[in-house]
Amino acid sequence: MLTLWLATVFLLSLFLVRRLRSPVAKLPGPWYTKFTSLVLKYHEFTSNRRLYIHELHRKYGVAVRIAPNEASFASLEAIREIYASGGSGYDKTELYDLFRQFGIKTMFSTLDKYNHSQRKRELADRYAMTNILRAEHISAIEDRAKAFVSRCLAQRESVDIYVWLHCFALDGVTNFMFSSGGLRSLDLDKDFEIMEELTYHQSLQKNLLQYYLPNLAPYFPSRLIPRRAPKTNEYVLKMAAQQAPTQHSLVGKLARQDSPLNHAQIAAECKDHMAAGIDTTGDGLCFLMWELSQPRNRRFQEKLHEELWCAAKDTPLDRLPYLDAVVKEGLRCAPPIPMSFPRYVPGGGRTIDGHFVPEGTIVSCQPYTVHRLDDAIFPNPDTFNPDRWMQEKGAAERNRLFFAFSTGGRGCTGRK
Ligand code: HEM
Repeated sequence: MLTLWLATVFLLSLFLVRRLRSPVAKLPGPWYTKFTSLVLKYHEFTSNRRLYIHELHRKYGVAVRIAPNEASFASLEAIREIYASGGSGYDKTELYDLFRQFGIKTMFSTLDKYNHSQRKRELADRYAMTNILRAEHISAIEDRAKAFVSRCLAQRESVDIYVWLHCFALDGVTNFMFSSGGLRSLDLDKDFEIMEELTYHQSLQKNLLQYYLPNLAPYFPSRLIPRRAPKTNEYVLKMAAQQAPTQHSLVGKLARQDSPLNHAQIAAECKDHMAAGIDTTGDGLCFLMWELSQPRNRRFQEKLHEELWCAAKDTPLDRLPYLDAVVKEGLRCAPPIPMSFPRYVPGGGRTIDGHFVPEGTIVSCQPYTVHRLDDAIFPNPDTFNPDRWMQEKGAAERNRLFFAFSTGGRGCTGRK
């Protein structure tokens, strides 16, 4: 019995010494994060991770330890190191395995830089501004925008724009990806069902269980398995098998004759981009329209209206500075992906914003905090104020800290 006690005390001491001597323990942060990740996990499972981390940053500054093997940063220096050093920054963590589609790795869910850049090469030109601005893509967006407005006008009283903006995003993204095969969920019930399938679900806790208990996941009862999307799957598999897809669409590039991707890989890639584009665009626009509708923001709405009203009809959308400011401010206040984008520190460890962090530590930045922490750059950070983007003073600093699309080689391909 005594031997068992001694062994337990020895192992416990070893554990404590190791934790205390780790360079991560030297980062600022609450004492308990030196020993356990349970508090962080509690906040993850109660959907509060982002606000918990934000509060820690407010208390401890730009670098904070959030678990024995995990740290969060909120500075330009850290963003550049983690997400852009060597072009694409550090490798992703296994959290991204949850984003495989049909069980297949996509560009987004590929963890390492080499395989990611190989895949990106296959499709990057589809997301270049020159392709996005092609008449066929622009006219599809215009058509869907008109359908959205008609939907709103058809309601006599209030309008649930959350629903119709998610339809707008789904129609826009699928028309870009599949051109003539794009959806019309703003007009057709059967396409509307695909929007519901993709948008209305709360799978966070179920996804986290799969991430933390991957070996047990195959034995989970059905109520613990994230919701499936059979109608979406059927649609995407059909679109990926098109014999003659429109030339400038995403599928047109992925399914070209000499493509190294097979049908399942093409379908997985397309489903991933569809998922990536819907909630982000729908949520972002919904927040923006809500802010603009508030009486306190009337002056911003009027300025935007004036810019659009006075502009020549053929003014390219990216030459309207106030529109740009309004969109950026919406994404700054409510980034559609507000939480950490986790990465592993590479072999040998790295110095991040002056702190040495050992290899294998999980590090990240979260847009919600990056857009708020430094109130010299973003004064009154919680206030929606597009005018801040119109000031010349501090413009470079503001733009450098704009992190809604992440940055570097693994930043959002769909941002344009
Ligand atoms: C307001 C709208 C959007 C926002 C805020 C947004 C944000 C982001 C962010 C933050 C990432 C990186 C996430 C990470 O590293 O964990 C990302 C990646 C990605 N996004 Fe977006 N996104 C938006 C719209 C779109 C659209 C419309 C598409 C496609 C049609 C798209 C396609 C992608 C893809 C394919 C990736 C993976 C890039 C890669 O791994 O190289 N996004 N997005």
